[in-house]
Amino acid sequence: MKSIADLGPLAGRRVLVRSDLNVPLDGATITDDGRIRASVPTIAALSEAGARVVVCAHLGRPKGVGVEARYSLAPVAARLQDLLGKPVAFAADTVGEDAKAKVAALADGDVLLLENLRFNAGETSKNDAERGAFADQLAALADAFVSDGFGVVHRKQASVYDIATRLPSAVGGLVGAEVDVLRRLTVDPERPYAVVLGGAKVSDKLGVIANLLQTADRLLIGGGMVFTFLAAQGHEVGTSLLEADQLDVVRGYLEQAREAGVEIVLPVDVVAASAFSADADIEVVPADAIPADRMGLDIGPESGVLFAGKLADCRTVFWNGPMGAFEMAPYAAGTKAVAAALVEVTSRGALTVVGGGDSAAAVRQLGFTDDQFGHISTGGGASLEYLEGKTLPGLDILGQDVTSRG
Ligand code: 3PG
Repeated sequence: MKSIADLGPLAGRRVLVRSDLNVPLDGATITDDGRIRASVPTIAALSEAGARVVVCAHLGRPKGVGVEARYSLAPVAARLQDLLGKPVAFAADTVGEDAKAKVAALADGDVLLLENLRFNAGETSKNDAERGAFADQLAALADAFVSDGFGVVHRKQASVYDIATRLPSAVGGLVGAEVDVLRRLTVDPERPYAVVLGGAKVSDKLGVIANLLQTADRLLIGGGMVFTFLAAQGHEVGTSLLEADQLDVVRGYLEQAREAGVEIVLPVDVVAASAFSADADIEVVPADAIPADRMGLDIGPESGVLFAGKLADCRTVFWNGPMGAFEMAPYAAGTKAVAAALVEVTSRGALTVVGGGDSAAAVRQLGFTDDQFGHISTGGGASLEYLEGKTLPGLDILGQDVTSRG
């Protein structure tokens, strides 16, 4: 893959940067700016090199039928300006008259953010010609392209994939750093290697689990998805999240793990609530005795200790997905226990990687800082698909060697 240095001198050239600025918002307030912070170094470096920097990004999943105010990148432009410490112009459209005028007005070193790419149907279209036509319009705004939105490299979209065939292209520092770390998880990881998986749905993680059964030594499972595992073992899970159509698949994984000698660690106790609410009636129950009228919303305290113990001697840990409904204080302890265990092994020299917007936001919300972990990935789906061994279109088009992956 080419790096920015391979693009040659940048002074005076218009450089289109694809960043992942898809941050959580509460109204117009950004509740976690991790992805913007992670995007700043590449944008700053291009600006310092004298490029006329045109940043493009998406926010949420608008329908592609024009501007939808709640998905506007305007609040992101303001935060990017603060973090960059220099003015960031904002175009009210992506490839329209305002964008063209503002690109034309850029001086060397200036930075412009275009409005949400996904306001344009061509960005996410499954139709190659439609996507290509939008990529042509984007390409007309620039002389070179830098792919720096790691969180979207698994998407075959105009600003991620098609654009790279239309302009001299390179990977930015963020994508480069993310790929370097993920490669260390897939090519000969230091052992023991444990993976902690959480989050709501097991169906989102099927591919990665299948692959991890061949690479990891231990798989620790929590979050909503764990109830499908507990049910697959024949336990009552009450009103907890359950994907009944995945029970056979999960039974197959348990069998495969036994054969491969991969240890699957499930919680031994669960925080069971009468309702999905912070002020529900709550009790800690054994994981194999969840009352029929209760739902599990976090792993219990004994499980926190068990999980921490299973991580203590690890040299490599990947974590994706919270252990419970951490947004509500009564269900945050399990996620906190796992985060603390990761911090501990990081301090002893292990490589720890936290993957995914949810997990990253969780650790920050629970009071941890990014530098307490080896690496906080900006990509959830992208890092899982990488670990799954899939070809990621946004890397593939830039010449990423995917043959050596697990
Ligand atoms: C993410 O939030 O994981 C990335 O920004 C990709 O967003 P998407 O899943 O809507 O494509």
